[in-house]
Amino acid sequence: MTASSVMDLPDDHLTISPPVLYFGTPVVLVVTRNEDGTSNITPMSSAWALGSCVVLGLSTAGHGAANLRRERECTLNFASAELWPKVEKIARGTGRDPVPAFKHAIGYSYMGDKFAAGGFTAVSSERVRAPRISECPLQFEARLVAIHGDAVDLGSTPQKALIIECEVVRVHAHRGIVVPGTDHIDTQKWNPLYYVFRHYFGDARDLGRTFRAEI
Ligand SMILES: Cc1cc2nc3c(=O)[nH]c(=O)nc-3n(C[C@H](O)[C@H](O)[C@H](O)COP(=O)(O)O)c2cc1C
Repeated sequence: MTASSVMDLPDDHLTISPPVLYFGTPVVLVVTRNEDGTSNITPMSSAWALGSCVVLGLSTAGHGAANLRRERECTLNFASAELWPKVEKIARGTGRDPVPAFKHAIGYSYMGDKFAAGGFTAVSSERVRAPRISECPLQFEARLVAIHGDAVDLGSTPQKALIIECEVVRVHAHRGIVVPGTDHIDTQKWNPLYYVFRHYFGDARDLGRTFRAEI
């Protein structure tokens, strides 16, 4: 068998320098406990999962990252597409007081209770102290395993990104998105909210299954 050769064809691709590289990942609402026992919600989307591990990319400037480092646990709540207006209601907020100057300059303000601000309901978790968000159909309880390496430079802003590894210790799925009698998510019913180049997307179409899909 010979290797495929590299073609030298006319190229319709432009070389561009986009301001962000958010190619499209699900929105995760990370709930962490504040020092006083209340809770904070950090909307984020730089996350990936493999096995029971979820890795989060969180800014050093955020309140959620500081809470997670101290408390070593959180819940990961996956918003469905129709929740995007609630997510956007808390998007300009930070639980950090005072607000870092560079965030203040781009329109962020202190938001001490993002559950109230977004119209979200807190429900207690089973294996961690941080609560879950009732409105999110899919919720993971997770423990901090490690913060990897040095914080990664984010270019033009003074913040850096932490690479945070968590272990998922419990999964809660609303009965409406579970295939009855199984542990499988019904992908016809689960409609995740995606963050794509700073726009909210939803209603993704099911195109087919991989050879590994059991249902
Ligand atoms: C849809 C969405 C996705 C975001 N993704 C990330 C992300 O992946 N990592 C991150 O650090 N911040 C992300 N942000 C920005 C944080 O939510 C923002 O910095 C917020 O102030 C953090 O809140 P906290 O300081 O209370 O933790 C995202 C915001 C939105 C609305």
